[in-house]
Amino acid sequence: MTGSPPTIYSGATPAQVADNLANLLNFQDEGLPLPELEAMIAADLLPHLMRYDRPRFQSMFNAFPSPEAWAGAQVALAYNQGVTNWQVSPGGAMLEELCGQALCRLFALASDADATFMYSGTYGNQQALYLALHRHAERQGIDLAQKGIAGFAAPQRLAILAAEGAHFSLKHAVRMLGLGEESLISLPLDARWRIDVPALRSIVRELQSSRDIFCLVATAGTTSTGAIDPIGIMADIAQKIGAWLHVDGAYGYAYKLVSEWAHLFTGDDRADSITWDPHKQLGAPIPNSLLFVKQRDDFKRMALHSHYFNRPDALEPNPGLKSPPSTRPMSALPLVTIFRGRGLKRLVGDLRAPLVAIRALADYLRPLPDVELFHEPDTGILCFRMKPLGLTEQELDVLQHKLYTRIMSSGERSISITNLGGSQLLRLVVVSPQTTVADLRETIDEIATICRAI
Ligand SMILES: Cc1ncc(COP(=O)(O)O)c(C=O)c1O
Repeated sequence: MTGSPPTIYSGATPAQVADNLANLLNFQDEGLPLPELEAMIAADLLPHLMRYDRPRFQSMFNAFPSPEAWAGAQVALAYNQGVTNWQVSPGGAMLEELCGQALCRLFALASDADATFMYSGTYGNQQALYLALHRHAERQGIDLAQKGIAGFAAPQRLAILAAEGAHFSLKHAVRMLGLGEESLISLPLDARWRIDVPALRSIVRELQSSRDIFCLVATAGTTSTGAIDPIGIMADIAQKIGAWLHVDGAYGYAYKLVSEWAHLFTGDDRADSITWDPHKQLGAPIPNSLLFVKQRDDFKRMALHSHYFNRPDALEPNPGLKSPPSTRPMSALPLVTIFRGRGLKRLVGDLRAPLVAIRALADYLRPLPDVELFHEPDTGILCFRMKPLGLTEQELDVLQHKLYTRIMSSGERSISITNLGGSQLLRLVVVSPQTTVADLRETIDEIATICRAI
């Protein structure tokens, strides 16, 4: 953006933000003229909103809506369409169904695959685990919908295997499903922070007599490091033990569209379900998440009919039969306008750029003596720490925290912090093609300057 001020947000403290918002939230008997209200929002709220469109936003997966997204989002907003059933939006319901099918083809999923839009990746993961459990129950002659987990003779045996670094939405899912966190078994990672295959095999062997493993979760782009688990090998193992394979591609699945990265996703067409968040690097306005299933009939496990809509005898498309909300916005349209407006060639170029920038940053950092690189990047994330000579592990952790806090409080750029293997690390994330390796190196220079001063 030309002429942008250097800040990407105010850098204000929570107390300052709350103070600024007090006026806006002082509900009054009399209404305000809209221009006055807009001026108040501009003065009191906008400075505290993060500008994802600035190249110095290098911390999270969020993205600003592109002009192409606006085109669809404005129509979605103007018509305020709920799209879960034909009665409330024939066009919206059909668009969503056809968009899901078009995406299955674009990602080269199985011919019988299908998709539904979700409110977020978190709910996509939760629904995937429910579907996995439902299928497992069916195979034992249990009606999960009626009996719940009490229908299992030994519910405490139920187990899901996922990587140590898998997203915490899986913990939410097992809590919400009544399985409890003890059902979620952590798999160790290898040197690339992907699921360690020999360890996975031996854990599966060990658990087979004591637990009922009904689901394996591969993450295609982990939140901390962007690592992509070995999907194909996990599909083989899942098939062998009769478990459901879910791929959490909330962050990373978009990169399957980039030809040089596509091989990392091999086996995704054998996954029973896949979560994907176009609201991340594609800049589709939130909410914009999807859950894919390998067989469209899998969604039948979600169906609940009513007398007024989603009727059992309906012939029209009713996307609301595939997931719980009876109201969802027309998320498909902004996604369609992104794909059609940008075109696949440009869209793939925009996805490739951050991957290339992060690789180039890794090349730059690798030889530096006072920087420790923690992984080779699979996607658009790089974790490292500043490591001046002579500091203990504890002092290094404190140092990374200080660096992170100093950068963030400036309001000029945004980085993130994480923990890998017990060490505090700085983490740079690129989702926008606007952030180049030069921008990333500028961040490194600034971190190094603060580090020297500390
Ligand atoms: C790998 C992964 N899974 C799931 C999620 C949750 O997605 P959402 O924020 O859309 O709920 C995230 C969020 O960043 C993620 O990185």
